[in-house]
Amino acid sequence: MIFPIVKYPEPVLQQPGEPVTEFDDALRAFVADMFETMYAAQGIGLAAPQVNRSRRITVVDLSNGKDPEKKMVLINPEIVERHGKIYEEEGCLSFPEIREKVVRAARVRVRAQDAHGKWFEVEGEELLSRCLQHEIDHLDGVLFIFRISGLKRDLALRRIRKMQRAGEW
Ligand code: NI
Repeated sequence: MIFPIVKYPEPVLQQPGEPVTEFDDALRAFVADMFETMYAAQGIGLAAPQVNRSRRITVVDLSNGKDPEKKMVLINPEIVERHGKIYEEEGCLSFPEIREKVVRAARVRVRAQDAHGKWFEVEGEELLSRCLQHEIDHLDGVLFIFRISGLKRDLALRRIRKMQRAGEW
């Protein structure tokens, strides 16, 4: 099932998600639907608040469905180590057409649970590092637009309002 993706300024995007405590078939079906939704939208990461569920669940696949080994499910994830800095352009499925450069850690180590509740750790560099930080931010209700300078944010928000008025958002 493909979910509609909510766009800024839906309030669910700016609320911290609830931790997951039940690792049941319903959760696994939801995760499968999140992958389906992300692939349909050509994304490489999707967080549950973006499909209007305020829960700490995110899926990531840098291959966008081309390599099954790249599929990652991160439930209740937390960043346990950060190293270095990178400054690259990011987009977000909840901000169509908006791309901004964001400062992120160059490498992160993340601890998370899989869809069966088993804890694991994963390390990401460069694009994967940015993607993990962007998605975990979503679970904290933090949007990438709030990680850029106030001036650039105002310009982006003005663009969004213009698109909203034109019925393009
Ligand atoms: Ni996003």
